[in-house]
Amino acid sequence: MEDKEIEKLIELETRRQRDGLEMIPSENHTSPEVLKALGSRLTDKYSEGYPGKRYYGGCEFVDQVENLARDRAKALFGVDHANVQAYSGSPANMAVYYALCDPGDTVMGLALYFGGHMTHGLKLNFSGRLYNSVQYQTGKDGFLDYEAIAKLAKENKPKLLVVGATAYPRIYDWQKLREIADSVGTFLLADISHIAGLVVAGEHPSPAGIADVVTTTTHKTLRGPRGALILANGNPSNPLKAVERTKENIPTLIDRAIIPGLQGGPHNHQTAAIAVALHEASKPEFKEYGKQIVRNAKRLAERLLEKDYRLVTGGTDNHLLLVDLTNKGVIGKEAEAALEKAGITVNKNTVPFDPRPPFSPSGIRLGTPALTTRGLKEKEMDQVAEWIDAAIVNRGDDKKLASMREEIRKFTQAFPLPGESA
Ligand SMILES: Cc1ncc(COP(=O)(O)O)c(C=O)c1O
Repeated sequence: MEDKEIEKLIELETRRQRDGLEMIPSENHTSPEVLKALGSRLTDKYSEGYPGKRYYGGCEFVDQVENLARDRAKALFGVDHANVQAYSGSPANMAVYYALCDPGDTVMGLALYFGGHMTHGLKLNFSGRLYNSVQYQTGKDGFLDYEAIAKLAKENKPKLLVVGATAYPRIYDWQKLREIADSVGTFLLADISHIAGLVVAGEHPSPAGIADVVTTTTHKTLRGPRGALILANGNPSNPLKAVERTKENIPTLIDRAIIPGLQGGPHNHQTAAIAVALHEASKPEFKEYGKQIVRNAKRLAERLLEKDYRLVTGGTDNHLLLVDLTNKGVIGKEAEAALEKAGITVNKNTVPFDPRPPFSPSGIRLGTPALTTRGLKEKEMDQVAEWIDAAIVNRGDDKKLASMREEIRKFTQAFPLPGESA
């Protein structure tokens, strides 16, 4: 690159990823094919509208790109309609609110401090400011409390019930949630951003055909570029006709919420990269990848439990572990900092009913999707658990942490990033 400053920073970030263990559950390592699409000429093209109905000329090829992305998303998740234009997960959720609710309507989502996402009704987020947000919590045991959700829904009669999380280690009972939504006549949004890759792999039940709308980011377990999908059943109709907020009209309502409601031109390079990632996710190897993510998370959970780490809900069904560090006499940010010095990237996180403030919570979140992409399996998880424990125990000893970092750097050489060789 001619821009040496940026070139250097890209190299340093690549090296940071290569030499360390990436354990943030919402991150992954994309394939060279995904990166190629992202860095293509498609980024130059304006194409406001949808395939065949654009406000710009020259869309012959980007139309085909978007159609491929939509068709692959529909086939992979088994739905009638896919919108692939949302710039990322937050705008995708915003589009669903915009499509199905009016400002001031009541919406219900899992509170951020119990594992929900900001866009699920946090007061400081658009979803809590523009809408009357009612937040549910997990039970004391960290599991979703379906009875409490049903009771809160009966009391508040929301227009939209949002289910999904950034820090929930267990499986969602979509059928139960459908019954709750139906009991009060509310739309059900399943935000599967974290678990989409596991759904594709058959490792988590799919909400498709149960929830009214499904949103997902494309860059977490799905291992694509940053971006999002909005999936629904029903028929997209003439976009110029006024449409009522019925289930059948959801595809049209979603498409219109994206443009002209919230966005302008789609990011065609991103759409192409999503199409590539969806193709990769349709292969049998991806199913095996999803299964290995869960096997690795379960093994890591076992090993940490043996070392007396407290896991919220007592374990995991998916790709992540939420660790309550209270009994270890360390807080989340200290553990995060020590692990980073040792070359393991995690993030501090609140735990249910956290007595500590949200900016300095009691726990950390650990995930296996990125490590699994690099080929780590159960055996390596045993070693990872040793390192995690050693970094936390030796958090005050920078020399020990630095020598662990070197040990980890050497270890990672046998597990190259996608497209690199060992
Ligand atoms: C459940 C959930 N929904 C939505 C989002 C938002 O995605 P983005 O960061 O791409 O806006 C996230 C991201 O962490 C998430 O975990």
